[in-house]
Amino acid sequence: MSGHNVWTHKGTFLLAAVGSAVGLGNLWRFPYLTGENGGGAFILIYALTIFAVGIPIFIAETMLGRTSRQSPIMGMRHLTKTHKTSRAWESIGWLGAAAAFLILSFYSVIAGWALHYTWLMLTGSLVGADATTISAGFDALLASPGLMTLYHTLFIAFSALIVGLGIHKGIESGLRIMMPALFAILIVVLIYGVINGDVGAAANFLFTFNIADLSLEGWLQAMGQSFFTLSLGMGAIMAYGAYMSSEASLTRTAIAVAFVDTAIAMVAGLAIFSLVFGAGLETDQGPGLMFVTLPLAFADMPFGALVGGVFFILVLGAAISSSISLIEPVAAFLVERFDMTRPQAVTIMVVAAWAMGLLTVVSFNVWAEGTIFHALFERSAFEFIELLTNIFMPLGGLMIALFAGWALTQSEVMKELGTNITWFKTWRLLVRFVGPAAVSFVFLRTIPQVEGYVVPTLGALLIVGVFALSQRLRKSA
Ligand code: PHE
Repeated sequence: MSGHNVWTHKGTFLLAAVGSAVGLGNLWRFPYLTGENGGGAFILIYALTIFAVGIPIFIAETMLGRTSRQSPIMGMRHLTKTHKTSRAWESIGWLGAAAAFLILSFYSVIAGWALHYTWLMLTGSLVGADATTISAGFDALLASPGLMTLYHTLFIAFSALIVGLGIHKGIESGLRIMMPALFAILIVVLIYGVINGDVGAAANFLFTFNIADLSLEGWLQAMGQSFFTLSLGMGAIMAYGAYMSSEASLTRTAIAVAFVDTAIAMVAGLAIFSLVFGAGLETDQGPGLMFVTLPLAFADMPFGALVGGVFFILVLGAAISSSISLIEPVAAFLVERFDMTRPQAVTIMVVAAWAMGLLTVVSFNVWAEGTIFHALFERSAFEFIELLTNIFMPLGGLMIALFAGWALTQSEVMKELGTNITWFKTWRLLVRFVGPAAVSFVFLRTIPQVEGYVVPTLGALLIVGVFALSQRLRKSA
């Protein structure tokens, strides 16, 4: 489409995609979910999904973005027309927009916690503090809806400013420094953990694969996390793919992103669990895991206030480069479809996500129990939103895989992939069958376990829907 920018550098997409992928998902969510789900078994499912399903779908998603060169919703609309498939495939874009909105709502609240800790570190408030003091400090933050709302507001407003002014495409140079710096400082924390913590126990916990340790819902969480961490299945990668230069290699980019993303998660996990076991903390302490263990290390480390301050600034940077990729697909859609200006589009998306984020804020205090979410789904609003994204992202990915695998023609795919026929055939096999089968398998496996009737019904409906859609696709393929 005319007017749609293309990034001039071949490497820009890679940087932007790494920026989107690496974020709170690696540093905060991966360790805490691993801890709650018994360690190795969770990692096994997570890693298998990344490599067998995530990478091929990543390629598919960038491919859809790059061939359509539009925002996900408009891009899918365009592709359903040019490929004479059912318009229902446009739901890939809509589902993605819903997922982006939900994720942004809680992402910003958690990033707000990092803002709080940046402040605590830089002011030296935690120097020398012990585990009890640090846990109590974290609990105090959670108990304060006012403070959490303040940080949430600051973080989302700042992200909005970047996307609204259209400068997010220019933050490459920042990322080029920040990403290696983040990795380096994680290594510092890991070394500290090896010396002062218990890296043996951590490695044992993370890499002993006993699949029986994993609850049924743990399967869904592990799969959801692998989509979450790669920013997959909700349009972010498609939106970025739309700006990707035609020369860049889809396959190499996807592998590089998955590799960097996994490496960061693993180093973060090892470092955090070394500290957890060293200090005798609980592995399953939930969303607070990173925010309690890391400050404990910084409290005690030489120059800890400074190292900790820099660390949390880098966490914030990683979170911002992810949150802008959550705003982009929806904002780009509003601009293309309703002729809004960028600032208008961003404001609408962000104000709505901000309001939704208040649900996450209160899930940790005034609405920590006894709400309608607890009555219906046996979980807090925040946990329910997380559950939805664990479903939406793999489902979106499944549909992306089916569409790219069945609707795009061989010559189109070959043109985008730019590789030999063997890899084309392998990739197509993966997105036509392997990915969809794996995702359906986890959905079906999980359904009886997740309480209530809403999730099973949703799940069954969705699977039937996807099947029906793929039948219609096949006719025209
Ligand atoms: N991948 C990001 C992270 O790990 C989160 C994200 C999900 C960003 C989906 C964009 C889209 O923090």
